[in-house]
Amino acid sequence: MKKISNAQLNVKNVGETVELYGWASKIRKLGNLIFIDLRDRSGIIQLVVNSDNINYEKALEIKNEYVLKVNGTIVKRSNPNTEIPTGEIEIDVTNLEILNTSMPLPFDIKSDNVSEELRLKYRYLDLRKEELQSYLITRHKITQSVRKYLDNLGFVEVETPILTATSPEGARDYLVPSRIQKGTFYALPQSPQLFKQLLMVAGFEKYYQIARCFRDEDLRADRQPEFTQIDMEMSFLTQEEIMEITEGLIYNVFKEVKGIEIKLPIDRMTYDEAMNLYGSDKPDLRFENPIYDITDDFNDSDFEVFNTIIKNGGMVNALVFNEAFNYSRKDIDKLTDYVKIYGAKTLAFLKYNGEFTGSIAKFLNENMALNLIKKLNLKENALILIVAGDKKIVKNALGALRCKVARDLELIDKDKYALTWVTDFPMFEYSEEEGRYISCHHPFTLPKDINNLNDKENAKAYAYDIVINGYEAGGGSLRIYNPTDQEKVLKELGFSKEEAEAKFGFLLKALNYGCPPHGGLAIGLERLTMILCMTDNIRDVIAFPKTTSASCLMTDAPSEVTEKQLKELHIRLED
Ligand code: AMO
Repeated sequence: MKKISNAQLNVKNVGETVELYGWASKIRKLGNLIFIDLRDRSGIIQLVVNSDNINYEKALEIKNEYVLKVNGTIVKRSNPNTEIPTGEIEIDVTNLEILNTSMPLPFDIKSDNVSEELRLKYRYLDLRKEELQSYLITRHKITQSVRKYLDNLGFVEVETPILTATSPEGARDYLVPSRIQKGTFYALPQSPQLFKQLLMVAGFEKYYQIARCFRDEDLRADRQPEFTQIDMEMSFLTQEEIMEITEGLIYNVFKEVKGIEIKLPIDRMTYDEAMNLYGSDKPDLRFENPIYDITDDFNDSDFEVFNTIIKNGGMVNALVFNEAFNYSRKDIDKLTDYVKIYGAKTLAFLKYNGEFTGSIAKFLNENMALNLIKKLNLKENALILIVAGDKKIVKNALGALRCKVARDLELIDKDKYALTWVTDFPMFEYSEEEGRYISCHHPFTLPKDINNLNDKENAKAYAYDIVINGYEAGGGSLRIYNPTDQEKVLKELGFSKEEAEAKFGFLLKALNYGCPPHGGLAIGLERLTMILCMTDNIRDVIAFPKTTSASCLMTDAPSEVTEKQLKELHIRLED
């Protein structure tokens, strides 16, 4: 008899005999009847054993999560359960075999109120949950769809090393000590960036890999130390062509995995537009509420605080929320505390309902009021939230506030997908931590103007991100393929010739051997899966994830090793 899944069966199969396997997920004894919910990956089907049945005694032994083999006949239920697909039928058991027993589980897998710590410790039990299984199955469907799509376009899947040298994505490396070569270390790849560029030098033209990446960085809800990229690289293609191929990939994934047809081409905005309008390089466009620049409107006001800020080159920006008109002073105080986290000195506000009230209303003359009504498109009751100061702080603070207020007011349509490209990223960004300019993407990104790299704040790159629902789902760039230009950029980034040689010498050398123009991008597989599964916890889409302190509660990794192992690796630990 063929192994069948529970959920394949329905009322059309009534009368058939079947052999099923699975776990006892719920057991009820009602009078002389025992009902058992048999769970397999596909779902649940009800077994029924009555006291006349030769299997009755054995059925009495069954406890939750016992593993069963069942033979029986499909019968129509007198009391259908409309909640499950097999709810119209049940199995009249003719033979029952307990394949394995189970200890009582440390938590109820059907409950939503179990601490994540406990769930992660017993991840293999947690993964019995239908919801988590569905996330991993979605992830599987995504990689299948990607492989099919890229294969059709002539991409070649190539694996690159895990034990390698440092790669350039700007996070801390995970290091692996070498036993054979005393005092040396491999680095785990932060991405296959350099290898995929070398595959272009080698002439592969179109490469992809579902690639494991490792980054020792502060973890967040959408970041893990070990994650996976849908990594691509292409030769002889323009930025437009690379973006088009990526759009096709995203379109296919949405269609095949979710049955959703996204609009093509995907909208585009430059990095500058994204920052100006949404205060973020990954704007959530599921809701509007852009940032308005109202600096000009306060140019000649009597408000000294704003005047001083404007005179010193700062700006005044505002957000408008009609739905927040009824916010109390206390609510606004909370928002003030929130923008302070982003460096804003304070949050001013106005309320409009035909006339202005609020903390700075007294500084508005008639002309300013009319201008604001027009610029902010004020028609109905509205709360206007205003931050003034240095451009970076103003944009960041209002960008974050925009999302917070939208979340608080539940303005985000959870069923909507809002996709956009963000293009023309800066070539450099200032790192407070390092006290110098670093690459905004990575040091191999092609600048828009190689002869104009001095103006670090304004130099732009052929770099692009794909943003979905406020997540950076993927990012890429055209690469430098001329060795002189590459050296120039590394020099601008503060690498001495020797340092550049030591870190990336093999790539610099390869650029001299007929390197084709090339570019690519990488999509975060977990991020894409999270978006399609509508979960905001990256751990949900990883079979065996790490906690925010980068440990695995199930295996207890990272863990101590023996003295012998350390010795072999020529490592001595300090107290
Ligand atoms: P980047 O560093 O932007 O680019 O990474 C590409 C995408 O990978 C995902 N991602 C992560 N996902 C989970 N946890 C993390 N810690 C994490 N870090 C990054 C994001 C991101 O958009 N080599 C370049 C790509 C290229 O230029 O082709 C790179 O790695 O979704």
